[in-house]
Amino acid sequence: TDRTFTMLKPDSVEKGNIGPILEKITSAGFRIAAMKLTQMTTADAQAFYAVHKERPFFGELVEYMTRGPIVAAVLEKDNAVEDFRTLIGATNPAEAAEGTIRKLYAASIGENAVHGSDSDENAEIESQFHFAGREIF
Ligand code: GTP
Ligand code: MG
Repeated sequence: TDRTFTMLKPDSVEKGNIGPILEKITSAGFRIAAMKLTQMTTADAQAFYAVHKERPFFGELVEYMTRGPIVAAVLEKDNAVEDFRTLIGATNPAEAAEGTIRKLYAASIGENAVHGSDSDENAEIESQFHFAGREIF
């Protein structure tokens, strides 16, 4: 089966939404292969989101992602990357479909509750960024 990587972002942890979001994820058929509470440093977030470094919101994004702990996890399911992005909904919660995690739990495009990898290749890179091989089951 396939794997994707997710983060429940600082706003989700601050609002007490870890449990409800994990319930949505496991109910949708994802198996948790790795999971931890962790906090990214500024250097971590700049590296993780390097693809966005020229974007006008990059500074805000790094501030947001480092302001508190996140839940990092590796998830397993057939067609994991695409199905997880469907489950979380559009980047901007105002445009996210009914019932999606971002529609339910995200406040704005800048504080959008969850991350989901956008390709199998990035899922592997992002999983290795946060987890050692022996932490992925
Ligand atoms: P991720 O799963 O987090 O990668 O989101 P995404 O793939 O749906 O969106 P994208 O990779 O294009 O953007 C990465 C993250 O940057 C988003 O999830 C937002 O947290 C943030 N972001 C994107 N656009 C904006 C914006 O216009 N303003 C602000 N403040 N943040 C943005
Ligand atoms: Mg993205």
